[in-house]
Amino acid sequence: MKIAVLRETATGEKRVSASPETVRKFAALGASLAVERGAGLSASVSDAEYEAAGATLGDRATVVKDADIILCVQGPDVASLAGAATGALIVGGLSPFGERARVDGYAAAGFEALAMEFMPRITRAQSMDILSSQSNLSGYKAVLDAAAEYGRAFPMMMTAAGTVSAARVFVMGVGVAGLQAIATARRLGAQVSATDVRAATKEQIESLGAKPIFVEAVKGIEGEGTGGYATEMSEAYQKAQAELVSSHIAKQDIVITTALIPGRPAPRLISDAQIATMKPGSVIVDLAVEQGGNVEGAVAGEIVEKHGVKIVGHRNVPSRLAADTSALFARNLYNFLSAYWDKDKGAPLLPDDDEIVKGIRLTQGGKVVNERLLG
Ligand code: NAI
Repeated sequence: MKIAVLRETATGEKRVSASPETVRKFAALGASLAVERGAGLSASVSDAEYEAAGATLGDRATVVKDADIILCVQGPDVASLAGAATGALIVGGLSPFGERARVDGYAAAGFEALAMEFMPRITRAQSMDILSSQSNLSGYKAVLDAAAEYGRAFPMMMTAAGTVSAARVFVMGVGVAGLQAIATARRLGAQVSATDVRAATKEQIESLGAKPIFVEAVKGIEGEGTGGYATEMSEAYQKAQAELVSSHIAKQDIVITTALIPGRPAPRLISDAQIATMKPGSVIVDLAVEQGGNVEGAVAGEIVEKHGVKIVGHRNVPSRLAADTSALFARNLYNFLSAYWDKDKGAPLLPDDDEIVKGIRLTQGGKVVNERLLG
């Protein structure tokens, strides 16, 4: 069983899909590991560390030659996989909706593509969930990015020269990233408030010492929502939410938005008119900017200024903490493959009727088979 680890080629992608730790663990399962030279450099892992962990190094053609499993952070170009074994597994973040033509290419080439972002949200799959592991660190980094752009301090400080007041931070969207943003802003000494459409998050916000700001007039989503996910809200809810945000946002120094709806553009939560009510020098970080943005005027890959407010729209935030996010991403891939490892065959065995396999399998036997893509 040969496992290839690719060097990522997408612009700005610094992560890598295997760590020396996971290379060792795969080797312990009996696999041979081939790592593309330089694959870990931008995530602070040297070629020598992979070699010491038992991998061989080579160029793309050498590592993919006869590979049975190809590990990646983002989906590779199908042409670059020529020479891999028939039916080889491609395992990584494959952007099934955004890169549909590429997925069709994997099918045509006979590869079995497994999109880790389609991992079902069930207890058994928690340790395999790349969205969680990466979002967690994005939420942390969003607060640091805001602090870096903010011309004031986060904590209250009493000094001989006078008092510096604490920053007010508002987190919109309290999933994995939002919860970590709240915790990070609290650690930095900010006064934190947060909102979500899912009722279950209210208690989570309170347990982190932040203040929940919730629409009361119109019912939101009960409990966790289906599979932990939000859906698009009714017009009445959106109107009530806009009013609530308008009255709250003018008093905030920092706003972090993380709201996403699977398979849909990100909901618009902050309008230009609302930004105009904020104090000059305030900072908004839009973590949903690549999915269409929660904030009017946010630009992916840029920091723009509107009405004296900076709107931060970094692309690929997990890549900004590549050493840690790579280590977690690598473990997600290992946890998935090792859970299905058949010791006798020395290969993963992926049953057709398994909930996880059905969720993430995009292509098989020359066809696109995932119901979310066929639907
Ligand atoms: P996400 O990235 O899809 O969305 C981020 C947040 O935005 C969510 O909390 C969502 O409710 C919120 N949101 C959507 N529309 C909004 C709007 N109009 N206004 C305000 N907020 C809005 O969600 P994420 O972070 O991936 O996970 C959400 C939940 O899923 C987690 O809190 C957790 O309970 C659950 N989960 C379960 C897993 C498992 O059991 N394996 C793994 C990961 C998450």
